[in-house]
Amino acid sequence: MRVFFTGGSGKAGRHVVPWLAARGHRILNADRVPLGHPGVHDLICDITDAGQVWSALAGWAGHDELDLPRRALGNPPPFDAVVHFAAVPRMGMTPDSECFRVNALGTYNVIEAALRLGIRKIVIASSETVYGICFAQGEVKPAYLPVDEDHPTVPQDSYAMSKVVNEATARSFQARSGADIYALRINNVIEPHEYERDFPRYAADPALRRRNIFAYIDARDLGQMVDLCLLKDGLGFQVFNVSNDNHSVDMDSDAIAARFYAGVPRTRETGPRETFYSSAKAKRMLGFAPRHDWDWGRSA
Ligand SMILES: NC(=O)c1ccc[n+]([C@@H]2O[C@H](COP(=O)([O-])OP(=O)(O)OC[C@H]3O[C@@H](n4cnc5c(N)ncnc54)[C@H](O)[C@@H]3O)[C@@H](O)[C@H]2O)c1
Repeated sequence: MRVFFTGGSGKAGRHVVPWLAARGHRILNADRVPLGHPGVHDLICDITDAGQVWSALAGWAGHDELDLPRRALGNPPPFDAVVHFAAVPRMGMTPDSECFRVNALGTYNVIEAALRLGIRKIVIASSETVYGICFAQGEVKPAYLPVDEDHPTVPQDSYAMSKVVNEATARSFQARSGADIYALRINNVIEPHEYERDFPRYAADPALRRRNIFAYIDARDLGQMVDLCLLKDGLGFQVFNVSNDNHSVDMDSDAIAARFYAGVPRTRETGPRETFYSSAKAKRMLGFAPRHDWDWGRSA
């Protein structure tokens, strides 16, 4: 597919974009800074500027497309899909109001332009933070375990608020257009080099992972998830949790529950190492099968 990718130069995008390119997709990376990946054209673009987003989405995926036969009005063909990752990716990086502005307005601009240009598949990065645990004041526990897509989404911070708003924006645009828009409630993204650097600390002090519900998502497995979303049509508006299958700490589920989740109901049995952040819906509807497990020696 010919894919318009926003925010591909960041922590997640620099793994997801190469993953998609290796699967044969043609990618244009629209970001404020270039990625520099072979075969991927970088376009410097600010998603908060609706005019830039419209122009970029109506444009070429790379210079080689200048050799395509001339089309009516000289326009290149529309992109087949949009993957929207560009954002201020957490609270505390910018003033709260700026985080909300960039994320909510940028997502509105990208979805509106894509649909009005006739693009029928949009994948957007939402976040685990919509469940209101990650950036809460003090300690907020999940309403139940494992956390699935039906869990309440009442966050306290402007970053997660922007992601809740973005899901509402996407749902409303989908209602009018009938297009497919899938929002990924991505857990904490882990790059390959971070396992050796960070996971010993998580083993020594599991409380470090409480705000992530003890879960994680390998950046390459996130690539797999985005690819599956591109290939699957006809689901309308959907939200999907995205995480790996096990906890990011060296503890069993019952021990985590006993230490951190006293009084939290468990709606079903979970395996001894099974994550409390459920990707069961993505597995059932898309065939998601994360492979890059930090604890593979024990789980295998
Ligand atoms: N990293 C995580 O653990 C995590 C978890 C859940 C959700 N997410 C979401 O996944 C997406 C990617 O996150 P990330 O960790 O790669 O973030 P990142 O900050 O590393 O990358 C975001 C990219 O967006 C670009 N960007 C920011 N503002 C822009 C603008 N106005 N116009 C164009 N580009 C702009 C940045 O230049 C950057 O390359 C974000 O939407 C984030 O909210 C990330």
